[in-house]
Amino acid sequence: MKNTLILSILIMMASCGSKHISTEKVNDESKIDSLIQLMTLEEKIHMIHASSSFTSGGVERLGIPELVMSDGPHGVRMEHGRDWTPDKTDKDMATYLPTGICLASTWNKNLGYQYGSVLGSEAKARGKDIILGPGVNIIRSPLNGRNFEYLSEDPHLASEMAVGYIKGVQDQGISACVKHYAANNQETERTKVDVIVSERALREIYLPAFKASVEKAGVNAVMGSYNKVNGQYSTHHQHLINQVLKQEFGFDGIVISDWSAVKDTREALLYGTDIEMGTDIVQLPNPDYDAFFLADSALAMVKRGEVDEKVVDEKIRRILRVMLKTSMSGTKSPGQFNTAEHQQTALKVAEEGIVLLKNENLLPFKPNQFKTILVVGNNAVYKQALGGGSSQVKALYEITALEGLKKYAGPNTKVLFAEGYIPTNDLSYDIKLADEAVLAAGKADAVIFVGGWIHNYDQTVWDGTAFDMEGKDKTNLKLIYGQEELINRIAKANPKTTVVLMGGSNVEMKNWMKNVPAILQAWYPGMEGGNALAKIIFGETNPSGKLPMTFANTHNEYPSHAVGEFPGKDLRVSYAEGIYVGYRYFDKQNLEPVYPFGYGLSYTGFSFSNLKLTQKSGQVVVECTVTNTGKMAGAEVAQLYVAPLNPLVDRPVKELKGFEKVYLKPGESAGIKLVLENEAFGYFDEKSHQWKTDTGTYEIQMGNSSRNILLKESISL
Ligand code: BGC
Repeated sequence: MKNTLILSILIMMASCGSKHISTEKVNDESKIDSLIQLMTLEEKIHMIHASSSFTSGGVERLGIPELVMSDGPHGVRMEHGRDWTPDKTDKDMATYLPTGICLASTWNKNLGYQYGSVLGSEAKARGKDIILGPGVNIIRSPLNGRNFEYLSEDPHLASEMAVGYIKGVQDQGISACVKHYAANNQETERTKVDVIVSERALREIYLPAFKASVEKAGVNAVMGSYNKVNGQYSTHHQHLINQVLKQEFGFDGIVISDWSAVKDTREALLYGTDIEMGTDIVQLPNPDYDAFFLADSALAMVKRGEVDEKVVDEKIRRILRVMLKTSMSGTKSPGQFNTAEHQQTALKVAEEGIVLLKNENLLPFKPNQFKTILVVGNNAVYKQALGGGSSQVKALYEITALEGLKKYAGPNTKVLFAEGYIPTNDLSYDIKLADEAVLAAGKADAVIFVGGWIHNYDQTVWDGTAFDMEGKDKTNLKLIYGQEELINRIAKANPKTTVVLMGGSNVEMKNWMKNVPAILQAWYPGMEGGNALAKIIFGETNPSGKLPMTFANTHNEYPSHAVGEFPGKDLRVSYAEGIYVGYRYFDKQNLEPVYPFGYGLSYTGFSFSNLKLTQKSGQVVVECTVTNTGKMAGAEVAQLYVAPLNPLVDRPVKELKGFEKVYLKPGESAGIKLVLENEAFGYFDEKSHQWKTDTGTYEIQMGNSSRNILLKESISL
């Protein structure tokens, strides 16, 4: 039979069944069996490794297409051809969304879904089957070079945002690929480092976002990370992939290796890798994909009888299962690219993700309030979309802070610009630029300083000065290019100075924060970032972002550094802080952060009242009222923490277990209702190797940051 004929017969077999999901599943499984029976071993092997930079093999004879993948977490990446040579086209200029950490700062689950929909739709329009995101690795240290792509230090927040994102992508008929599984929390020696981590920390901190991606979002693909976990490469890890991911979580999709993460044919065959991707073990521009671990050597191993062909069949089964839901479903609607709606989502995420950290009666400005506003800082004009590594996006456009501020300042306000600093290889201070900026600041009515981190992909030019990027961690959180001194000088020259920080983490603030009345954390806010920032500064948008990570004074205060375990020694890093990551550690040690997890200001005020707890059939229903007590419409995030009082085992002081964002007009109230299932009170018991919920007393806390608990009440379980 001809390939397409076989395929259409199989598709017909699948689609004439009833609409009932389980029947569809059964049909798909029998269709998969039939296809596998028709395949030669060589054809099967061809499907389990890369066939180009971003595809894995198909079987033309049977009408099985290649799987086409693309980065990445916040935009469909530029076209790289089959051999990494960028296509000379402008057809791949895409919607550039704010990066993951900005998305998480919105604490808006619906926006997570909309964000995913944009990616899914654009991936589809560009002929992709899998989008390589979201990145859900936990922020263990603020120095991790990829924190900008990730979501949070907290597993619950990361899980909730990832679930929305994945559903958004997959409802478009495209697969999401949640990454990087697992414990890939640093870039230093990422391909070799052995992460020594307890089972409890894995279960409570590092795995929940993956678990939720599988169980709650039905993610189609998981990317195995480069690092080792407890002695074995995580991309082929008997315990993590076969036992935990596939058996326990019930993941029935594809495990894709990170690019060139596979290190051993036998392990990859047996320990769960379904597709080996990558390029650098073979020479470009003519890569020999047959030299991959899951290519000729796998074929030989199966032929010699050392590994059963059924092991390969299982991989094919997973690949076909995903294909039948997506690329081979025959029902996909066309995608859309660069629509106004997609750009609106980029704007909305930035507006809700930018966090107001400090505001001493300065913001918001009114349009035309000042005659002149001086914008200072290279980040006000620097375009970030192409930076960071694999997550780079060729943005259709990128509104810089300066452009946005000019647009929203009002016709009677002159917006001037002084660069103040520029990126240099030695990170130094440019006295001439600084002097010019300080002089201009003294003459302006208000100053907006836009600085922080910068990321850039081209390491040949930026070696030593690239931050927030793949393959490299920061060494500390000190402001670069002399920005600290510059901020202080500007603040002295003009007390109406607002500082806007970009980047994938915080910076050290103690030497300057007291000198400025207003600070905003803008992360990498995407193609509409400049507009979002300006809307916030000029009061058209009321800020509602909340920190998804603790902001401390220096990196040394974070647990991974406090225990001396970042980035590890001799290719080994021990997560000695255990479950005490982020605020769990600051709470336990009673340390005062600069800005706590969950924190973020608004231009209006909110009150919390009427906490009501109802216990029924293993659940606790938590209700309260949030009221906008100020004069401006705004949004607040009601955060629900569970605190075990007198626990039988070592437990965090409290943990985030629910949240909801509400949008309220002045004087308006909203009822919040969150349901805590039994697991919300549990911990992973290493002795019994099971989740356990102890009887006892728990405090239910509601607040608008992890350090501002406004209502609490105890219950007994
Ligand atoms: C990154 C992945 C990315 C892949 C493909 C790897 O280096 O770690 O996140 O998806 O490259 O570009």
